[in-house]
Amino acid sequence: VFHSHLEEKVRPYIDLIDSLRLIGIDEDLALPTIAVIGDQSSGKSSVLEALSGVALPRGSGIVTRCPLALKLRKIKCGVQWQATISYKGQFTEFNDPSLVEGYVEKAQNELAGEGVGICDELITLEIMAPDVCDLTLIDLPGIARVPVKGQPEDIGHQIKNLIGKYIEKDQTINLVVVPCNVDIATTEALKMTQEVDPEGKRTLAILTKPDLIDKGTEKNILDIVRNQVIPLSKGYIIVKCRSQKQIDDKISLTEATRVEREFFRRHDFFSCLLREEKATIQCLSTKLTQDLVDHIKKSLPLISEEIKKQLLSLSKELSQCEPGPPLDPQQRKIFFINTLTKFNDKINRLTSGDVVNDDN
Ligand code: GDP
Ligand code: NA
Ligand code: MG
Repeated sequence: VFHSHLEEKVRPYIDLIDSLRLIGIDEDLALPTIAVIGDQSSGKSSVLEALSGVALPRGSGIVTRCPLALKLRKIKCGVQWQATISYKGQFTEFNDPSLVEGYVEKAQNELAGEGVGICDELITLEIMAPDVCDLTLIDLPGIARVPVKGQPEDIGHQIKNLIGKYIEKDQTINLVVVPCNVDIATTEALKMTQEVDPEGKRTLAILTKPDLIDKGTEKNILDIVRNQVIPLSKGYIIVKCRSQKQIDDKISLTEATRVEREFFRRHDFFSCLLREEKATIQCLSTKLTQDLVDHIKKSLPLISEEIKKQLLSLSKELSQCEPGPPLDPQQRKIFFINTLTKFNDKINRLTSGDVVNDDN
């Protein structure tokens, strides 16, 4: 999904972060997390799936019942595709992408029970593959207004609490998913993000299901996408993901990308949005990758400062140590004999009751 011309500008930064990660830098540099929020069945999992290329459980009703962190790691050589799912301190490794849905469902049943309950506990799915981008995405349960049979009365409240914990973090980019066929002004998810991010600096709205739009409302949707109705500083992007029928017909994610572009290209009202770079999953992924790169650029001076500080304190420590053995084999022997002799002297003086000089 991430193969755009932007790739060339972005790649060096991502590679830099990759090599820094190898030496453990990710403890100092938290990469932004992308949280996806919205009403139930608004298309959150579909957007995530299209962005990541990983097929996730989705459908009508409550499907996502625990927060799911999808950690994508690009690898250059070795394994083709490898995943680890972890929760409750245990983990399972597997290397068949078609097993993702089953493993996630199993994890949810174990954490939240079978049925319609939800749970705060995080499931982490780490995927290493050559064709993904370094992103961490979080799928969250959808906001439910009315409890369904078997759900507690306060389910809406429980879900909003859970979502709140993720969207309040400064490090998180919030993707608010709203279907084109509902009134965006009354969207709970948008209200929630406006509370934690009043200026909308880290909120991006995604309009989904443009193929299910009510006739006659196209002009209104166009105004919304152009940021003229509820302005957000990161703005809006409109996407078309796979419908239930396309999933049943086994349309691949790659094919869906082509179908999506065709849909917008032929659309009477929305074709202009392709030129304005406000439509398609491809455009969304480019925007998110750019955000990631901006974040890395901003963080680099801090990381460099931190490395200099650590280097200074380590060289101080080092200067207080004695030099190690010399490289020359003959000199090494002498060094070794001297060290042993010094050690031997120390032992002798200790056993004869002398005070040992610290310098020796
Ligand atoms: P979630 O509950 O917010 O995670 O929503 P899902 O991603 O599970 O999607 C709910 C349903 O809407 C699924 O059957 C999807 O196939 C369908 N869907 C998602 N996006 C689109 C879209 O752009 N067009 C159409 N027609 N259906 C979509
Ligand atoms: Na759903
Ligand atoms: Mg979902």
